[in-house]
Amino acid sequence: MEYFTTTSAASRRASGCIIIGVYKNGKLGVAAADVDAASGGEISKLVKRGDISAEPGSCTVLTSIAGVKAQRIAVAGLGGISKFGITQYRRALSSAVNAVKDSKTADVVNYLALEKVGDSSAYYLARYAVETIGNALYSFTDMKSTNKKAASKLRRIGQAVASRGDAAKSARGSEHAHAIVEGITLCRDLGNLPANICTPSYLARTARRLARQHKKLETRVLSEAEMKRLGMHALLSVTAGTVEPAKLIVMQYKGAGRQQPVVLVGKGVTFDSGGISLKPGPGMDEMKFDMCGAASVIGTMATIARLQPPINLTVVVPTCENMPSSTATRPGDIVTSMSGQTIEVLNTDAEGRLILCDALTYSKRFKPALMIDVATLTGACVIALGHHRTAVMSPDDEIASSITAAGIAADDRSWHMPMADEYFHQLRSNFADFANVGGRDGGAITAACFLGKFTDGVDWAHLDIAGTAWHSGARKGATGRPVPLLTEILLSRAGVLP
Ligand code: BES
Ligand code: MN
Ligand code: ZN
Repeated sequence: MEYFTTTSAASRRASGCIIIGVYKNGKLGVAAADVDAASGGEISKLVKRGDISAEPGSCTVLTSIAGVKAQRIAVAGLGGISKFGITQYRRALSSAVNAVKDSKTADVVNYLALEKVGDSSAYYLARYAVETIGNALYSFTDMKSTNKKAASKLRRIGQAVASRGDAAKSARGSEHAHAIVEGITLCRDLGNLPANICTPSYLARTARRLARQHKKLETRVLSEAEMKRLGMHALLSVTAGTVEPAKLIVMQYKGAGRQQPVVLVGKGVTFDSGGISLKPGPGMDEMKFDMCGAASVIGTMATIARLQPPINLTVVVPTCENMPSSTATRPGDIVTSMSGQTIEVLNTDAEGRLILCDALTYSKRFKPALMIDVATLTGACVIALGHHRTAVMSPDDEIASSITAAGIAADDRSWHMPMADEYFHQLRSNFADFANVGGRDGGAITAACFLGKFTDGVDWAHLDIAGTAWHSGARKGATGRPVPLLTEILLSRAGVLP
């Protein structure tokens, strides 16, 4: 994909498709007004006749409009002008691209970037646009023997800008978003692949391949034998029931010499059956998405390795399957974690925290400036926040706030949930230092408190993406979240945001 910016008026831009918009009550967007004037009132006529809808999500494609150079005009409905914001902007772009992506359109110019969208800058308007278009063009057909979707003919994405000053910012936004889309796409692909293909070894191969593609990136993969030597018995207890070998993947991007790295830790359970505490049958297929934390941190690494910002980033992925068998861990078994703390495994389905706790202990050796773990950790998180917000928990409110702020900027939103000591007491055990479950109440928080026992002395936050990592139902598939949020945090720390 190629990107460009343009200051030329919509009516004079010779392109495959220009994207313009109309608001409710007959108000035309900036570019729609220009096209209207150039065509002798064609747009307002069609709006009046009811042939162009201003409903959010609708799009009318016009062709051969006299006085306009573009081959196609995608007129998106923007809804009421007072309600127009980032969400409506992205929805309009998505429907416009969906309307033309299967045509012969080779280039589109987003003229909606000329609208006032909250107080978003030209940089972010380009970023949201390119990201939205990338997501609209995504399809996962790798596993179909036929009906492989023909790739879209779209090759060039342009952003309209009002001034030369905005052009530089917009171009930077497109460049960053291009890399973010690459990360999101990798994340979605890994998530969507079934567990019989996307195994821990497959994730390890993917990480090694990325290192071959990028000079500043190194990947190491620890085997079960090495994990045993390190004393990672919490992690190993989860993989005990499967013949599929577990891996600990370590990826290091060095863009800032000896600076302390940001460490991202991603839960990589390639299939979560629950183990001996077996999950119910319906919907169990969706537990192939239980490695979406891993996919998101590997995806973010792909984004960072492409952009090469001046920052050090380390990605740690504990990955295994959680399966029942005669060698599987039993409820009541007690394991010693790498930290030395003992854990009573009361429920083998609370496995994410068991692999993460050893990965977090291991990650301390990198002396992280900031450590964030990302995990599809609890069903309770979905009950608390639904599917629109990632949960952020941290013992440090300032770290949590900076993450929620980054989520707003990146339009990949999160919500700060409490993480106080009183919740930790729910994990008490009669036999070990603590148990791996704390009952149903506040389940997302007690999970975070469990992890907090392994992050002493480190600036750390936990992201529970159980509700945001994938869609169920007709749109079943990985979302690529929170790659945009994580990238925002990293680019902001690197000081490369305009
Ligand atoms: N991977 C699941 C969490 C999950 C469930 C994410 C459903 C998205 C949708 C996790 O390993 C799990 O099973 N958690 C248990 C914890 C419980 C046993 C304390 C849960 O949430 O039920
Ligand atoms: Mn589980
Ligand atoms: Zn799980």
